[in-house]
Amino acid sequence: MIIAIDGPAASGKGTLARRLADHFGLRHLDTGLTYRAVAAALLANGLPLGDESVAIEIAQNLDLAQMDKSILAAHEIGEAASRIAVLGGLREELVNLQRRFAQTPPGAVLDGRDIGTVVCPDATVKLFVTAAPEARARRRTDEMISNGKDAGYTSVLDDLKRRDERDSQRTVAPMKQADDAVLLDTTEMDIESAFQAAVDIVSRAK
Ligand code: C5P
Repeated sequence: MIIAIDGPAASGKGTLARRLADHFGLRHLDTGLTYRAVAAALLANGLPLGDESVAIEIAQNLDLAQMDKSILAAHEIGEAASRIAVLGGLREELVNLQRRFAQTPPGAVLDGRDIGTVVCPDATVKLFVTAAPEARARRRTDEMISNGKDAGYTSVLDDLKRRDERDSQRTVAPMKQADDAVLLDTTEMDIESAFQAAVDIVSRAK
């Protein structure tokens, strides 16, 4: 079984993906981390984000088990990840890695921007998780405050809108709901009701 979850930043897709994986006994891959890991390595070595051949080489040596979510969560790394995500050759390399993960038994939940459209077009079930930008910015701001950082709601909202724009307008694998994906709008939902809704959708599709 493969569950494909796509959607914009701070839509709740990551939390849902993790909880669905636990619930259905599947492995989980946050594919955003693969873009973040490559971006972080470029930044750490002072290399230009547009250098695709170096980015590909980093991707080829990427060890999924070594990706440290707490380090890769930094805002600048997310921004840099979204900039390198326009590089077609790099995406090809990361997509291969993500597909190998998805096809390893007992199956997996993958979340990202192009899982249902490009990485796993034959997934058992596809969800497109979204929420109004204001609701996403509110959640992201609250999360930052609870982590002792406060970037301010307005700047978080501006950043999210800019990132959505870049991710949905790029020519290679833009963020897009697959034709056969079920839309889950979590604007008016807390995480518990969103999780219940997602479990129902997956159970119906199994
Ligand atoms: O989801 P996250 O914020 O970690 O993703 C960082 C960036 O990586 C996104 O803004 C997007 O540009 C890119 N990404 C992508 N395709 C994916 C996952 C992430 O292009 N499947």
